[in-house]
Amino acid sequence: MAHQLGEPEPLDPRFDRSAWWRWDRFGMFIHWGAYAVPARGEWVRSYERLSVADYQPAIDAFNPNPDFEAWADTAQAAGMRYAVLTAKHHDGFALFDTRLSDYSTVHTLGRDFVAEFLAAFRARGIKVGLYFSLLDWARPDFPHFGDLHHPMREAEEYRGYTPDLDSYRAFLHGQVREICSNYGDLDVLWFDFSYPGMGPEQWGAADLIRIVRELQPNAVLDNRLEGSGPEPGSILTDTPTPFCGDFTSPEQVIPAEGIRGADGTPVPWESCLTLNNHWGYCRHDADWKTAPVLIHKLVECVAKGGNMLLNVGPDAHGTFPAQCRRILAGIGEWMDANSASVRGCGPAGLPKPDWGWWTAGGGKLYAHVMEDPVGPLQLQGLRRDRIAEVHLLSDGSQVPLVDAWSVADHPDQAFVAFGPQPEWTYPLPDPVDTVLEVTLR
Ligand code: GLC
Repeated sequence: MAHQLGEPEPLDPRFDRSAWWRWDRFGMFIHWGAYAVPARGEWVRSYERLSVADYQPAIDAFNPNPDFEAWADTAQAAGMRYAVLTAKHHDGFALFDTRLSDYSTVHTLGRDFVAEFLAAFRARGIKVGLYFSLLDWARPDFPHFGDLHHPMREAEEYRGYTPDLDSYRAFLHGQVREICSNYGDLDVLWFDFSYPGMGPEQWGAADLIRIVRELQPNAVLDNRLEGSGPEPGSILTDTPTPFCGDFTSPEQVIPAEGIRGADGTPVPWESCLTLNNHWGYCRHDADWKTAPVLIHKLVECVAKGGNMLLNVGPDAHGTFPAQCRRILAGIGEWMDANSASVRGCGPAGLPKPDWGWWTAGGGKLYAHVMEDPVGPLQLQGLRRDRIAEVHLLSDGSQVPLVDAWSVADHPDQAFVAFGPQPEWTYPLPDPVDTVLEVTLR
C-alpha cells in the first residue's frame, strides 16, 4: 500500500491502543530480581539445574536498596519514554505484593519494589509497564520433569511427577489480577513466554485476557501469551486470537524489514535487546554494545516501523552497572539533539540509502547519515525539485542544496555539502549519525 512520502503508513484500527507507544519508540527494559545475587543471568536456575532449595541462599541474600529515582533519571536522560520492570521472572520470586504466595520481597524485605518503581518513573512522566513471567519454577503445580526449561526437567526424583495445571492457572490468573488491580493504570503488560507444551491452553489465555482487558483496557500487550521471540503467534495472521497482543516482540534481533500481517499492512513490533548478552545481571559478561551501535539500531528499528526496548540488569544492590550508565548517557546525548527524528517517526517510504536510513514524521523526512560521503552527499531517493529546504537537525542550521561539477551529470538529484566547497569532502558534523531534516515542497 503506497503512502504519502513522509507520512506514516496507516495501520489496522485494532492497533489504535498502541499509538502513544509507537510514538515513543524507545523504552527501557529492566530485568532485576534475586538472580542478581548469583550474578549469572536470570536463567541460572534452569541452566544450572538449581532446585528451589539450592536457590534459597540467593533469596536470603537479596537485600538491595535501589535508588528508583536514579533509575528513572537514567532512563529519562537516555531519551527513553517508557520502562518495563520484571514484576516476577521465571524463578517465581515476586517484586510485588502478592497474597497468593510468600515468595516475594514484600514477605522477605517488607519492600514492594514494583510500587516504588512505578512511583519513581510515573513522577517523571515516563510510561510504565510490568513484565510478568507465565512460567513459575517455584510452583509445585507447574510441570517439572520433561518440561522444556524447568530446572528439574531431567531430575530423576521428578520422573512421573504430576503437575496440577488447574491449580497453576488459578494461581497465575490470581497474580495477574493482583498486578492489574493494585498498581493503577499500567501502560504496558509484557507476558513471557509460550513454548512447546506450555501455551495459551495451559495459561488459560482466553480467560486471562478477559481479566487483563477488564482491569487494564488500555495497557499495550505483547504477543507472548501465545508467542515468544521467534514465534509471533496469531497477531500476524488474518485470524488473530483475542490474546494475540498489540505488538510482536522479536528478541535480540532487528527484523530484516518491517513486520507486516497477512494482509500486508504494518503490525506494531518491538525489538528487545540487551546491553551485553544477558537480561539479568551477569558479572562476567563484559561484551557491551556501544552507544553508537545502539543509536544506529534504534534508528534502524524506527526506519522499519518498530520500537526498541533496551535492557538494563541492575546488580544485587539495585544499582545500574557503570558501563550501562555510560552507554545510556551516550545514547541520551545523541537523542537530546536528534530525538525529533525518532519519536513520532517511522518509515519514510523511500528505498534504504547507501549512507544510513530515512525516517519520517510530522511531515518531515530525516536523513540519518552514518557513512561519510566523498564529495557532496546525495539525498538518495529524492528528486531535487521535491525539496524545499534542508537543515541540520542538531542545531537547526541550513544545509543548502549544492551544484557541483563532480555531479553535474545528475542535475535532477539533490546534493548537499557540509562545507563551503561543494566538490570537497568534509567530515560529518556527527560521526555517529548526522541527521538532516528535509522539508518537501
Ligand atoms: C527470553 C528470556 C527471558 C527474558 C525475555 C526477554 O524469554 O528467556 O529470560 O526475560 O527473553 O525478552
